[in-house]
Amino acid sequence: MKKDKASTDIKTRTTMVIFGGTGDLTHRKLIPALYQLYINKYLPEDFSLISIGRRDKTTEEYRSDLLASTKRFSTRNLDDESFDTFSRMITYFRLDFNNEKDYERLHKELDDRDQDGVLDNYMFYLAVSPDYFTEIVENLKTSRIRKKKSNWQRLIIEKPFGQDLESATKLNAAISKVFDEKDIYRIDHYVAKEMIQNINMLRFQNAIFESIWNRTHINSVQITVLEKEGVGTRGGYYDDTGALRDMVQNHLLQLLAITAMEPPKTLDADDVRNEKVKVFKALREFTDEHLEEKLILGQYSGYQKEDKVDEDSTTETLVATKVYIDNKRWEGVPFYLLTGKALKNKTAQITIEFKNSSRYHYGANSEPNILEIKIQPDEGITLHLNVKQPGVIDKMAMVEMDYCQSCLYLFNSPDSYEKLILDAINGDSTLFTRWDELQLTWKYVDSIISSVKGSKSSYLRCYEVGSDGPPELKSFIQSGARHWWYLNREY
Ligand code: BG6
Repeated sequence: MKKDKASTDIKTRTTMVIFGGTGDLTHRKLIPALYQLYINKYLPEDFSLISIGRRDKTTEEYRSDLLASTKRFSTRNLDDESFDTFSRMITYFRLDFNNEKDYERLHKELDDRDQDGVLDNYMFYLAVSPDYFTEIVENLKTSRIRKKKSNWQRLIIEKPFGQDLESATKLNAAISKVFDEKDIYRIDHYVAKEMIQNINMLRFQNAIFESIWNRTHINSVQITVLEKEGVGTRGGYYDDTGALRDMVQNHLLQLLAITAMEPPKTLDADDVRNEKVKVFKALREFTDEHLEEKLILGQYSGYQKEDKVDEDSTTETLVATKVYIDNKRWEGVPFYLLTGKALKNKTAQITIEFKNSSRYHYGANSEPNILEIKIQPDEGITLHLNVKQPGVIDKMAMVEMDYCQSCLYLFNSPDSYEKLILDAINGDSTLFTRWDELQLTWKYVDSIISSVKGSKSSYLRCYEVGSDGPPELKSFIQSGARHWWYLNREY
């Protein structure tokens, strides 16, 4: 994959600066990921981390907080000794996001670290509430940190990137005054999940799939991302956001694009993202006609009583929608997207339902072939086939051919953040969202939101916590597919 060219004849050092160093994301994801990269020797030799928080803390205190949280959250191996060596690369730095003087102190801290003959790489990571994105980026400019002589400076920015097309455009305009598009790394952690990265391999390295990945052979595609947890402590954020903005605009539409895109010319970042953009451009416009055939919104019972949630809230915690891609490959094939919170299971999978090609009658209706790409919690690929049951009477049975990646690798796949941080250090932006992708996905989700505006409460179906979602889901799908394969599975 294409990387930014860094000159090879100069000595460089990499300093990562995390804004939001005491926050949840840093403790749960970023530090465990950096630690794994460190013990697996993927971090550059001269790597250090400045972790920024607003609280008063010494670096020693901060490092011991990190050890405790990494023990709690890391799903992979950890030993105190190597964590200790790792944490010596980390410095805690107190800074108020809106205090210009603090950025000048940060600039001085970076200057104090300068060494003759060494050019620095700076990776600024915004792991903070989106309310601070613009402010921090502008302060990197006014404090002249951006003017510091360096090999490269990059910005990693977490979601949500805006609340709609208008606010995303405003945010993008502000950060683009300070960083070039090629140096902005917008995170969508779903894209870096192991099995999502595997889709290209599956599609483009297996002739049996490449030739049938189209409307002639595929009846429907179902993208299902379900969660067991409710909104928990994030009620304040979630109530202003809802499942359409929180999950569909980014994760689900990204999964759709990766499943549907044409083979890119190369696997370079821009070739891949160009193909995804073509899919987003081909999405059939979402209008308010026949809405009930295209959209179900749900809210779990008791949601309105969650902390920081409006007691009359009409925020959706579940979305099911039917999307068409108007191009030659997918004309007429429904893509069903389903995501929700507080459901029976936590799962993410893409199900490809092939056309039913049964010619003969074997006593029972044959089922179509189904290909399941299991993203989480299990990782793997299952292909469902019709076979003859052994016996003197011809009878058919559906069987599974199973590649269980999580069994083989003992649930030890790297976390998305390991891959994303490493790629950003290496200048590979393939798995990060380019601005034109965001524009198109926001435009699409904005049109869904405006189609129910004013009458949202009448669309909202209530569903029980721990259930499979509102009962209406079943009839919703039957117009284009046989079942919600995930919800109907008996396997
Ligand atoms: C985040 C959403 O982007 O993804 C959360 O903001 C959601 O609401 C989370 O819970 C799900 O991610 P994962 O990796 O746990 O499936």
